[in-house]
Amino acid sequence: MNARFEPVVGAASDVARYRDVRAAMVDLAQGLSVEDLSAQSMPDCSPGKWHLAHTSWFFEAMILGDDPAYRPVDPRFQQLFNSYYEALGERVARHQRGLMTRPSVEEVLAYRREIDRRMVDWLAQAPSGGQHRYLLELGLHHDQQHQELFLMDMLNLMSRSPLDPAAYEVEPRARPVETARGGAVAFDG
Ligand SMILES: [Fe+2]
Repeated sequence: MNARFEPVVGAASDVARYRDVRAAMVDLAQGLSVEDLSAQSMPDCSPGKWHLAHTSWFFEAMILGDDPAYRPVDPRFQQLFNSYYEALGERVARHQRGLMTRPSVEEVLAYRREIDRRMVDWLAQAPSGGQHRYLLELGLHHDQQHQELFLMDMLNLMSRSPLDPAAYEVEPRARPVETARGGAVAFDG
């Protein structure tokens, strides 16, 4: 196995990698308006706000909630930001995600920060066994999957406007941490 693809182990490096992956979607949301982040352009797309929330919910549902003593940040979010996981309870149908005007973008970003705080605590305390490592990798890859979906859905949203707006003045670039794992491929729109 090529050493480049081995996961970095150790609580400190896990925290650094977690923070880096999680910062990427917040960076993508920077400069977009609340309206940009709230609109759902078609039934198969999701609002940017939903991606920001859902990826945080994932850590809560898959990792933090595994502790029987765990108390959710807001129990109502369990239904609001579930996607397809029937085993994890009720959920809002995808085509209706744009109707969820509450919580606000600001509240979703606060939810995201609180999940990050709890995850950093979890990383400091959790044993580095195989199951924990698997769940951390799963959560980080899920976040990255939704970073792509965030951009795809924002592109579709912008394309629906006769004003032909650009979501970003400068095209977002792949974060350096991903370069060793393949990075991004640039192509014409
Ligand atoms: Fe998801």
